[in-house]
Amino acid sequence: MKYMSCGFIQYGIEFRFENEIRLCSQVSHIGGGKIYLLKNFDPQKPDIDKIIKTREEIINSFKQGIIYPNCKGCMDLKEMDMPEDIPKIKILVLQYWTKCNSKCSYCYTNQDKEYFNSLKNYEIYPILKEMHKKGILDNNGIANFSGGEVSCLKEFSKVVKFLDKLNYYIIINTSGVKYERIIEKRLKKGNGCIVISVDAGSKKVHEKIKQVKSYDKVWSNIKNYAKHQKLSHLVNIKYIIVPGINDNEEEINLWLAKCKEAGVHNVVLGIDANYFEPNRNNIFPHIFDLFHKAREHAEQIGLRFYIANRATTMLTKGKYADSFWEKYRYDEGPYTDIYFKDCRI
Ligand SMILES: C[S@@+](CC[C@H](N)C(=O)[O-])C[C@H]1O[C@@H](n2cnc3c(N)ncnc32)[C@H](O)[C@@H]1O
Ligand code: SF4
Repeated sequence: MKYMSCGFIQYGIEFRFENEIRLCSQVSHIGGGKIYLLKNFDPQKPDIDKIIKTREEIINSFKQGIIYPNCKGCMDLKEMDMPEDIPKIKILVLQYWTKCNSKCSYCYTNQDKEYFNSLKNYEIYPILKEMHKKGILDNNGIANFSGGEVSCLKEFSKVVKFLDKLNYYIIINTSGVKYERIIEKRLKKGNGCIVISVDAGSKKVHEKIKQVKSYDKVWSNIKNYAKHQKLSHLVNIKYIIVPGINDNEEEINLWLAKCKEAGVHNVVLGIDANYFEPNRNNIFPHIFDLFHKAREHAEQIGLRFYIANRATTMLTKGKYADSFWEKYRYDEGPYTDIYFKDCRI
């Protein structure tokens, strides 16, 4: 039997700062996501039974044909096979948000750096261990490390080692400022990929966006990671278009040339959420031109071109929806497809 659902509803969990655990990490669509499994929990005593109960309630609601308003316009919502039982969790999104070695002007921690830097970050490792003990964490899943910078986290290697034992594929969003052997090891083995958001081709624009002097270091680290990747799609370099700062063809072409020079094969173009979300029905026309031109140029020079999460919402949903872009959605490597293949449009 079929029902309207998504990979996150069936298998997902997102750990967030401010002691929040959500079902999914999608927020850029009109419904805005934010489906909670636990709020204001005590990190010393996370209520795993409550997570189990809330997931059951959510999954059962979707099985009865109820679609949450939070899912409206989400690119992941689609008709899928209905599972008989409540599936175990195997898509993890780890969003720490509390530590970073860059100060990206578009990052939403930048709106209140003092607040974010003062946040006490809770450890996700003991929660994962508890979930595993209670039998709700599956093996052979995928884990996506995102908000904040993994290389600044105390528990990063502990979590990676734990997930290693459960045979998880790991997606790491990193600034690339600090070279991590643990990441290199994953790339060599082929059981993990990285996404580095460089957002510029020139040093000047890079410093303007990142607000730290790391241009040479980041490109040299990218080169090194690319050298070690077992499969050519494991190192992914991103560019978030920030209108008014890097929204021009010259800068994007410089970025593409730097990617090529560094031995990278996959490039991902995105759009700043702070621009897109309040302007979703009033996007500057030149932004669409940039997406087309960047794709053409990337393909001409032999790079695989993808569009990032918010760009996918912008280009495939709502007012400007164009099915042309659907195949360019960045899925964070083919391994993600193992779990999402039934959930993609
Ligand atoms: C928050 S970052 C954290 C990971 C890592 N420290 C980094 O620098 O990439 C995770 C991803 O979110 C994206 N991101 C952050 N703020 C964004 C925004 N305002 N609009 C679009 N994407 C954003 C970044 O491009 C990055 O790929
Ligand atoms: S359909 Fe979208 S918003 Fe709804 S749970 Fe799935 S990923 Fe989240």
